[in-house]
Amino acid sequence: MAEIKVEHLKYRYPLTKELALKDISFSIKPGEFIGIIGENNAGKSTLCQSLVGIIPSFYKGAYGGKVFIDTMEVAKLSVSDICTKVGIVFQNPFNQVTGSKLTVYEEIAFGLENMGLPRPEMIERIDYSLNLLDIYKYKDRNPFDLSGGQMQRMAIASIIAMRPEVIILDEPTSQLDPQGSEEVFRAVQSLSQEGITIIMVEHKMEKIAEYSDRVMLLNDGNLIAFDTPQKIFSMDDLEQYGVNAPTFTRICKSLGIRNQSTDCYPVTLREAKDAMHLLGKGISL
Ligand SMILES: Nc1ncnc2c1ncn2[C@@H]1O[C@H](COP(=O)(O)OP(=O)(O)OP(=O)(O)O)[C@@H](O)[C@H]1O
Ligand SMILES: [Mg+2]
Repeated sequence: MAEIKVEHLKYRYPLTKELALKDISFSIKPGEFIGIIGENNAGKSTLCQSLVGIIPSFYKGAYGGKVFIDTMEVAKLSVSDICTKVGIVFQNPFNQVTGSKLTVYEEIAFGLENMGLPRPEMIERIDYSLNLLDIYKYKDRNPFDLSGGQMQRMAIASIIAMRPEVIILDEPTSQLDPQGSEEVFRAVQSLSQEGITIIMVEHKMEKIAEYSDRVMLLNDGNLIAFDTPQKIFSMDDLEQYGVNAPTFTRICKSLGIRNQSTDCYPVTLREAKDAMHLLGKGISL
């Protein structure tokens, strides 16, 4: 399984003065669920594109440092080589659609045809991903007749069908209503349980807190902190980076309720309940 290692990554887009990523280093173990948070222009999408080699293959500019997927150095490979291990779902699903396929089914088959898979395996993978994202009923529709949410789920399904070891999702639920978002989170969680590494950029902090093993906080191209959701959302200066902790954390902060063994504030409803119960606050939620 793929381990990700980033060493002193720096990047500046062409014709710009400021670095979009400023000396970033971290590693991610196979199977981890990583949430990436930070205000607009923090560098989240730029980092995602660096992990899959779009930077520096497609976007030129100034690049320094190294990104490894296992032993492969991303900058020395083509994006198509990297895509066998790492799949990316873009912030805007319109960027993902081929534009040449007449049905959702064909759209998802496209990546698999390029991989040269046997037909029965292709069919099995397409059906699995259509069902997982609950879009089997739209399989004969034209991709451009889908709503934003349905299109986003199709984009995720086409990546899932390729069975990458790492899936990067850049704000995958920004186009979705609460129910659609929940479906995507559950689908992504089940992929995570199968051992696929998940890297997800998301502004919904409740969801990040619930699903992530670790959370990376970016600001102005810098990696500010990379730790458990409890540690990140307990940071005193979090708001300075344009991020609000989940509601449960904010309530517990204002009531001074911490988890006594970790000294962190609760980040989910269940953790808040447990901490209140232990403190004998008797608040029923
Ligand atoms: N194609 C581009 N050309 C030049 N500069 C860019 C380009 N894309 C992004 N940038 C700049 O790089 C910095 C980081 O942008 P990035 O899109 O990675 O931020 P982000 O954290 O994903 O923001 P958002 O939450 O708005 O999606 C910003 O200053 C942005 O203006
Ligand atoms: Mg972005």
